[in-house]
Amino acid sequence: MKFTKQQIFTLLAFIIIVLSNCNNQSEHKSKGYTMAVDSELTLLMRDMYNYYDTLKADILKGDVLKDIKTFQDIHTAAATSPEKISNELYQGLASIYVNSAKRLNRPNVNKRDAFNLMIDNCMNCHQQMCPGPMVKIKKLYLE
Ligand code: HEC
Repeated sequence: MKFTKQQIFTLLAFIIIVLSNCNNQSEHKSKGYTMAVDSELTLLMRDMYNYYDTLKADILKGDVLKDIKTFQDIHTAAATSPEKISNELYQGLASIYVNSAKRLNRPNVNKRDAFNLMIDNCMNCHQQMCPGPMVKIKKLYLE
């Protein structure tokens, strides 16, 4: 793939904006007080994490799983800064995640493999835009 200078510049500017926001937030938290109100997207991400953590336990128990959530709101939930989600990179990675979450609902799919593939897609987006939570997300993988 070839990029023009303009595209590379836009991408770099975007990554810098996104990373600085991610870091700011965790800084505030580590000091024990919260300056910024948590964004809609942050709250949604926490819900997603907790939901999939529970789902992981259900898969391990061998439960029959129905109507697994796909969290399509990640396309629209307000982030700490609007630039974070109003770009093709974010929206593209969000679609890939949503599709892999939908796949979990297919009747003949191996749930363990489909679950781990979905977590790969959480990790892919985070690697690009918000590496902080990766340590935590990694714990969701099924062995
Ligand atoms: C398309 C990109 C994308 C995908 C896919 C994605 N995330 Fe996120 N995630 C973000 C962004 C961006 C933030 C920071 C939110 C903000 O700044 O408003 C975030 C924040 C988080 C946080 C930190 C919340 C906090 O307490 O500060 C966790 C945990 C998290 N995501 C888990 C997940 C999990 C689990 C998945 C997969 C099921 C996932 N993410 C998929 C982009 C993504």
